[in-house]
Amino acid sequence: MKKKTFNRLASGTLAAAMILSAVPTVWAADSDETATGKVIYSFDFEDGDISAFTNRGGNDTTVLSVSDEASVSGSKSLLASGRSTSWNGPAFQLDDKLEPYTEYYISAKVKGKYYTDATFSFQYTNADGETKYQNLTNLNGNDWQTLEPVKVSFTDEMTGVYVYFEGGTDDMFIDDFVVTEAPAMEIEQDIPSLADVFENDFKVGTALTPNDLSSKPTMALVEKHFSGSITAGNEMKPDAVLNKEACKAYFEETGDDTVPQISFSAAKPLLDYCQRNNIPVRIHTLVWHSQTPDWFFKEGYDDNSEWVSSEKMLVRMENYIKAYFEELVKLYPDIDFYACDVVNEAWMENGSPREAGEQGSSGSAKSAWVQVFGDNSFIEPAFEFARKYAPDGCKLYYNDYNEYMDGKLNAIVEMATALKEKGIIDGIGMQSHLDVRTGSDAFPSVSAYNKALDKYSALGLDIQVTELDATVPKDSGEQYFDAQAEYYKGIVDAIYAHKDSISALVLWGITDDGSWRAAQQPLLFDAEYKAKPAFYSIVEGREVPPVTTENPNETTTTGSEPDKSTTTTSTVTTDNTNPIVSVSLMGDANCDDKITIADATAIIQALGNQDEYALSEQGAVNADVVDSGDGVTGADANAIQAIEAGFIKASDLPITKEALDSAMKK
Ligand code: XIL
Repeated sequence: MKKKTFNRLASGTLAAAMILSAVPTVWAADSDETATGKVIYSFDFEDGDISAFTNRGGNDTTVLSVSDEASVSGSKSLLASGRSTSWNGPAFQLDDKLEPYTEYYISAKVKGKYYTDATFSFQYTNADGETKYQNLTNLNGNDWQTLEPVKVSFTDEMTGVYVYFEGGTDDMFIDDFVVTEAPAMEIEQDIPSLADVFENDFKVGTALTPNDLSSKPTMALVEKHFSGSITAGNEMKPDAVLNKEACKAYFEETGDDTVPQISFSAAKPLLDYCQRNNIPVRIHTLVWHSQTPDWFFKEGYDDNSEWVSSEKMLVRMENYIKAYFEELVKLYPDIDFYACDVVNEAWMENGSPREAGEQGSSGSAKSAWVQVFGDNSFIEPAFEFARKYAPDGCKLYYNDYNEYMDGKLNAIVEMATALKEKGIIDGIGMQSHLDVRTGSDAFPSVSAYNKALDKYSALGLDIQVTELDATVPKDSGEQYFDAQAEYYKGIVDAIYAHKDSISALVLWGITDDGSWRAAQQPLLFDAEYKAKPAFYSIVEGREVPPVTTENPNETTTTGSEPDKSTTTTSTVTTDNTNPIVSVSLMGDANCDDKITIADATAIIQALGNQDEYALSEQGAVNADVVDSGDGVTGADANAIQAIEAGFIKASDLPITKEALDSAMKK
């Protein structure tokens, strides 16, 4: 039986209040886990009404109609025809119908005319009028593909919030498009707060992305556990802060291309949140080879021009760092910017600088800083300028991954010793992207990590653990959660043993599904916001302050006798950079030493049928070209198709989803 279409309102802001109380229906999210939620919209298109859907606007040539050419059940579907480029497609607006800060699931069926190659995506316009895009999931294969329920939410600062289907240019059919309100998830209030557990030791914090802000339970976890420190996941990196148009405009107006123009619009929602809630912020990051556009190093800020001289780059660097701090302090005088990663990831595992090159020329390992300076001599001036312009109280860090591997560790120690003598560095940031693997083969071992802590502590500088996460094998379910718990305990015990040298412990994300390495479930909370064994393992046995559970009628205190304010002992019982395989050729998923459409096919096949068409280990590393580090996804195949179609160049890889999307709109 098909659900009847109901309760669609053409438009209007009164919609949300009315539809939320509409028709309560129990609805199964999928066969294993039953999520119950109210169906808010359900379109089977049998009544011929497609008025809630539009094309994507602008130059989108998509024509929407009701079709009886294909359908999943019943006899009709929504047909999107006339699509002239891959970003064209059917869109459904959310913010004129649904409530901000509420989580919804969207599910649907989609089919391409000949072959289905669709991406389900999300877009919104921020407070500064900039439109942002995010691919949510890819649907590839023959015939109808099922969009399993995808969670979406938005904040009240977002406008023009849409979900849409894109990909290829074939006609596309949509059927059984259902929006349900996700059941309100509560976080566990009866567990100790990490911030409290380590209250007397160091700040506990996390990385946050703008998406997190619209999820109430995610933000409840932040408030309870991670309010000691926030790092923007991407929004304060050079590619987010440098404003190319403004740089070029300033150059055209003045003839001076040494005064980079910046904007914190991407970070604004995060910084507004930190300001409102009085949360200290780690600045991440000023000088990095990655997520830094090549044009920043070119004459006239032009990708096709020559590299600038090191003399000119020094002036640019100083003006950039000056503007960065001045603007932050001007916009957010009340935020405690207590730490800053001045330089990120400048040393290789063997202790040498990175190779010179464009970011996209051969994987993300090459550095345009080294290209311009010839070596790592840009590090010292970066710290000098940071010291000169950073606000009082903002400590300056060198930050890196694989920081426990001997060659890199020695290079960092040597560099830090020299910078310390000059008084321009305050600490070392240990990213700590760790791999539990299956347990006994964890990398690094707890003892290797502990040894690194010993060496960095001996420098007499501060240490911050800046991006902690610890992965288990991809898609392994809960199988390795106990091993992960044991490993986390070992690592946090080592950190705790060095607490006199450590001022912050920052996790790189909150729940597994929101992690940059989501498939490898590296964090302390699961997608249902529940504490994992790893959480319990790190609080177990530590002194924890009494936990108060809020209740309108009574106050229950666990962990100590009610009414006593004494603290008691807890009664809780219970590959960022894989050093082995590195990229041989970005995009070369089938390892034939070239980048062709066959690589896109290899990725699509692997995603469709892991057993039969799995990529080789090398192929999988090469294939991860979009938002590299997040594993192989359909977006990686899209990027390779985009090369074939001439939207981007192979040298643009790796690329962010945002950059890919915007290239495909040109
Ligand atoms: C990661 C982000 O989490 C991802 O969203 C992005 O696609 C890539 O960068 N080391 C760092 C962080 O210093 O900035 C990186 O963050 C993870 C590795």
